[in-house]
Amino acid sequence: MYHRHDVIVVGGGGAGLMAAVQLAGQCDVAVVSKLYPARSHTGAAQGGIAAALANVEEDHWEWHMFDTVKGGDYIVDQDAAEILARDAVDAILELEHMGLPFNRTEDGRIDQRRFGGHTRNYGEAAVRRACYAADRTGHMILHTLYQQTIKHEVAFYDEFHMLDLLITEDGICNGIVALEVQSGELHIFHAKAVIMATGGFGRVFKITSNAMANTGDGLAIPFRLGIPLEDMEFFQFHPTGIYRQGILITEGARGEGGILRNDAGERFMERYAPTLKDLAPRDMVSRYIWQEIREGRGVNGSDYVHLDLTHLPPGTLREKLPDITEFVETYLGLDAETQLVPIQPTAHYGMGGLPTDIDGRVVVDEDNTVLPGLYAAGECACVSVHGANRLGTNSLVDLVVFGRRAGRQAGEYINEAGFAPLQREPEYRSRAQVDSFLSRAGGERVPDIRATLQTEMMDKASVFRTGSELEGLTDTLRQLRDAYSNAAIQDRGRIFNMDLLEALELEALLDCSDAIVAGALARTESRGAHSREDYPDRDDDNWLAHTLAYKTSGGIRMKKKPVVITKFEPQERKY
Ligand code: FUM
Repeated sequence: MYHRHDVIVVGGGGAGLMAAVQLAGQCDVAVVSKLYPARSHTGAAQGGIAAALANVEEDHWEWHMFDTVKGGDYIVDQDAAEILARDAVDAILELEHMGLPFNRTEDGRIDQRRFGGHTRNYGEAAVRRACYAADRTGHMILHTLYQQTIKHEVAFYDEFHMLDLLITEDGICNGIVALEVQSGELHIFHAKAVIMATGGFGRVFKITSNAMANTGDGLAIPFRLGIPLEDMEFFQFHPTGIYRQGILITEGARGEGGILRNDAGERFMERYAPTLKDLAPRDMVSRYIWQEIREGRGVNGSDYVHLDLTHLPPGTLREKLPDITEFVETYLGLDAETQLVPIQPTAHYGMGGLPTDIDGRVVVDEDNTVLPGLYAAGECACVSVHGANRLGTNSLVDLVVFGRRAGRQAGEYINEAGFAPLQREPEYRSRAQVDSFLSRAGGERVPDIRATLQTEMMDKASVFRTGSELEGLTDTLRQLRDAYSNAAIQDRGRIFNMDLLEALELEALLDCSDAIVAGALARTESRGAHSREDYPDRDDDNWLAHTLAYKTSGGIRMKKKPVVITKFEPQERKY
């Protein structure tokens, strides 16, 4: 089936909806989403969205910018970080005016809480910068934006899985192909511009806070077409996932005063980060949790530590952290008011993604050459405001600030651009891909290949890495790719074929894993979330650079891209 819209937004999470809201009323915009939009993963973001509103304590956008740059271990592009920190303030006010129900101070202003790595006066002490709606901030943002898109009559194609990105021979993006999950039919979406906002790829790891749908489709499809992925080696592990399950326990719990304790009950973060303690940035806290565990100080000698919330003032959990209190009860059978909560680091956020400029235009090389008609925002993009380690709350800021910019920029572009003609049979690659799965007999099972992938990535490419393990992992990925080329699915029908969907998603997981591992092998230093035990130091002489990974017929080709430094020269990172 053929559809034509001025702009196609792929993904119905926060970034996609924010972009669509900018375009609504100005042009014909449609959102194509794998999920019903209100189920998008933005809804799982809990603790807050940062902005230097200074509602409860002195704060300045420059401090927010500095914390973002330092938190990202100085590989953040500072022109983008400045926009993030400056624009966060009016983005919050815009959300408030749309009706987002933030928690309030007693005098009626938006309340703010502490979060990891956010400081006053360039690192002096923690600052209250995270605006929040209990521990449902992402959920509230998602629903607020969704209401706006409905109000402005944005067109939606829900439960359509993107299969291909259309690019003309002259290199102009002019649409996508998607599979309608309900019918199994292929749909061609012809557009003047496409905005990718498909979220993350945390499902490459076994223990993750990410939803089942976070399989990196929106990164993998352009990657297969020769568009690079930037900084994929930087993957964030959030310190507090529910033990063994990875479900997120918000950093806001520590922002409200929660403490991490080892087997001896010691508040161990005091030893590692004397100023910020439990509110040091995530890369550090996750590393130190693992260090405690490796040195035998995990609880009962096991592979977890405790989050202690028992000393919080009465009512804090009920009023400010109701969801996590319920999660702890549901998934662990514990009462967080009176009992310690077992936690372990959980795969949470990919700092890398499709390289973009500060207006969300996808760029294809180290000189920032733009691919006309293609935009990206949110977790699938790398602008880069998170560098080697994102600060908590900055993902929500990123998606509203850069979702808005991508939408506005695409709006300007389509005023000039026409519909670039489609090539003949634009859906031919997608049809071959789907038909190949539906007709194959025998072969390995998709869930088995996926489980091996997730376990191997967790064991060899998570918080700590070594060159030899990464080399072994490269071989494993090659074998998994071979197995995938023979994989078979049980369901051969076209209607709601979840087997088929999972098989298609697995290819994206493999592509993202290839890029993560190739970047991690290439980057012979430790920086932010990328911790090489065989190269334990940061190496600014050789690696104050982004990486670009290109998929080639022979594997992955790596390139470097310069980091934009404007205000803050790299320093040693201490908290
Ligand atoms: O801990 C959290 O609430 C997560 C927030 C984030 O990833 O920004």
